[in-house]
Amino acid sequence: MNLEAARAALRDARRVAVLTGAGVSAESGIPTFRDAQTGHWARFRPEDLASPDAYRQDPDTVWEWYAGRYRDVLRAEPNGAHYLLAQLEGLKGNGFLLATQNVDGLHARAGSQRLVELHGNLLSARDEITGEVFALPDPDVLETPPVSPNGHRMRPNIVWFGEFLPEDALATASEAFASADVALVVGTSGVVYPAAGLALETLRQGGVVIEINPEETELTPLLSFSVRDVASRGLAALLGQAAS
Ligand code: APR
Repeated sequence: MNLEAARAALRDARRVAVLTGAGVSAESGIPTFRDAQTGHWARFRPEDLASPDAYRQDPDTVWEWYAGRYRDVLRAEPNGAHYLLAQLEGLKGNGFLLATQNVDGLHARAGSQRLVELHGNLLSARDEITGEVFALPDPDVLETPPVSPNGHRMRPNIVWFGEFLPEDALATASEAFASADVALVVGTSGVVYPAAGLALETLRQGGVVIEINPEETELTPLLSFSVRDVASRGLAALLGQAAS
């Protein structure tokens, strides 16, 4: 398949499923989990901050880390890739689903609505007793650990190492990928579950899978076509527009 054929496939597709990863937010300046561990945080390993054990042992430190990342993502803005995916949803309507592994909330801020956040997000927290999810207050008035309107301590609304993905979000994504005419895999290394599984299911059902990534990934050899570019330009090329 070449770019022309990929564009035609996407244009004609009634059902489109998209999976995004950290690469989509790179142009918004959001550091990846590992890049964000600078200064004071450099001495922590990811699992020291993003695991149920770490939280049990030191909720204050874990919350301090997440509050910092919450401030970072609020300072960032969605980029052209986020907006183009919201635009694609507008074109495809009910036949569209965007599943993201990102926790920065930028897809929602760019207007995506048919969206599942497989790893949770930084902008909300979960009541530790009832499981209800509440938006975090403004960073200026955020006190950590935050307390829910029920009066219970809240934990970050993030899927941690060793935890399962939310069942309903994963089921929605699996269904969309299994029935997609075209799936896009944008800015994700493709090694972490569920990226590979979702794209392979589309292929198994006879759909087309197009990757957008400046680097080759482990998925590349299996897919229908790869756009070897950053997310905003790659999506613009696929959708037939100049990058916004
Ligand atoms: N545009 C598109 N892709 C890019 C860009 C860009 N501007 N810059 C980098 N990339 C690509 C990289 O080549 C890489 O393949 O984005 C990918 C990012 O890979 P990872 O850092 O592994 O991120 P991701 O795939 O989202 O990781 C999945 O793993 O660490 C856990 O829970 C975390 O959600 C994360 C999950």
